[in-house]
Amino acid sequence: MADKVGTLLLFGATGDLSRRMLLPSLYGLDADGLLPAALRITGTARTELDDESFRAKARQALEQFLPAGTFDNAVAERLLARLSYVPLDITDPAAFGRLAEAVGDPAQGVAIFLSTAPSLFKPTIDGLAAAGLARPTVRMALEKPLGSDLASSREINDSVASAFPEERTFRIDHYLGKETVQNLLALRFANSLLEPLWNSAHIDHVRISVSETVGVEGRFDYYDGAGALRDMVQNHMLQLLALVAMEPPTAFDATAVRDEKVKVLRSLRPLTGADSVIGQYVEGTIDADSVPGYAAELGRESDTETFVALKVHVDNWRWSGVPFYLSTGKRLQARGTEIFIQFREVPHSIFAARGATAKPNKLIIGLQPEETIRLLMMAKTPGLDRDGVRLRELPLDLGLANAFTEYRRRIAYERLLLDLIEGDPTLFVRRDEVEAQWAWIDQIRAGWADAGLTPVPYAAGSWGPADAFKVP
Ligand code: BG6
Repeated sequence: MADKVGTLLLFGATGDLSRRMLLPSLYGLDADGLLPAALRITGTARTELDDESFRAKARQALEQFLPAGTFDNAVAERLLARLSYVPLDITDPAAFGRLAEAVGDPAQGVAIFLSTAPSLFKPTIDGLAAAGLARPTVRMALEKPLGSDLASSREINDSVASAFPEERTFRIDHYLGKETVQNLLALRFANSLLEPLWNSAHIDHVRISVSETVGVEGRFDYYDGAGALRDMVQNHMLQLLALVAMEPPTAFDATAVRDEKVKVLRSLRPLTGADSVIGQYVEGTIDADSVPGYAAELGRESDTETFVALKVHVDNWRWSGVPFYLSTGKRLQARGTEIFIQFREVPHSIFAARGATAKPNKLIIGLQPEETIRLLMMAKTPGLDRDGVRLRELPLDLGLANAFTEYRRRIAYERLLLDLIEGDPTLFVRRDEVEAQWAWIDQIRAGWADAGLTPVPYAAGSWGPADAFKVP
């Protein structure tokens, strides 16, 4: 199914995701002439609006969220002219009829983007199916949270599957739309240098960390029931781990890539209590601003973790004995997402007797805020070495932003929306992946509950709980 669609139907069109990400992404695609000329975009949400007031809201969102200096009125007008709006009460079947009418003949292809509360998935899917919007020419993208454990995610997946078969279901993990995440595939599979070293014989450990300075940003309803493990590890971090650890796929296509990722996800070793640390931020200071603690923001005590660190093993031949340290937290000292690969030490250091240490090589893939790939190598410090040899770690540096200055950095959703419109599911998550992710996460949560694990307080603006295990 590689046909472009004629209509994009956006659920939650007045919501935060739409305003911050989806509309600016569609603007970016339209600006570059990448949207099909005839594409129409129908927005829907609960709010009663007509087309004109929806367009006015969309314009406001573009003005507010496009990077400074990039708003071009002519492009905005072109995009706004594609927009229309239908208010929808999900409990009212007649409203779905009006939506179907606005969408028009589904034979011209429809892509639906659904980001709604999990409890609304079933009535929405049923409403769409009853209104004739689940035809073979309609594909469905789903935004997280897709459940809160394996059982609820299966329920959602079953109700989606009752109307949309797997090949027309596009589950979003916005990390897969990030340029540097895809660059991981290029780094691993467009270079012959790394693959022979990419295993337990040469790699000592891997560290994947996502640090955020932001807090929950008003999403307490959702976040307090989720916590860092389900908000970040279950999806984004496990996808990163799978891309780092997977075997080379035979092609860059949806089946081959996802087949390899799911094998990794199924090889995750069940975690024991000693291999997790959880924390919750208390009052502190970030960038000289004082920040209240999580419980104070929430307005009550809570056991929800805002920080999690895990020591993970992938039980297969390639990764036997190599720990993967995953950590993520909110209200930490600085924002940064990084994949850090530490190679093993040299088998025998010829410099030891001369007082020098050869540190192990490290490959650091920075995803954000900077897109970088750095390989740390040992070099000799210039000199006559009368007092012994001095070695220093120096980076071989691929600053991607500098190397590709002529290319605009795109929002992850630009790539995902375009792939959805064009029908390429490679960068979307397949049901078996999601279920393997949940099965592993459920087991961790059950272990925490058995052990009575509760979050350790950490000050906002720190690097998380002091007793998060020390990564070598
Ligand atoms: C979302 C989480 O999926 O990812 C948020 O729900 C988190 O809590 C966000 O802040 C992080 O995304 P990014 O792209 O800013 O790293």
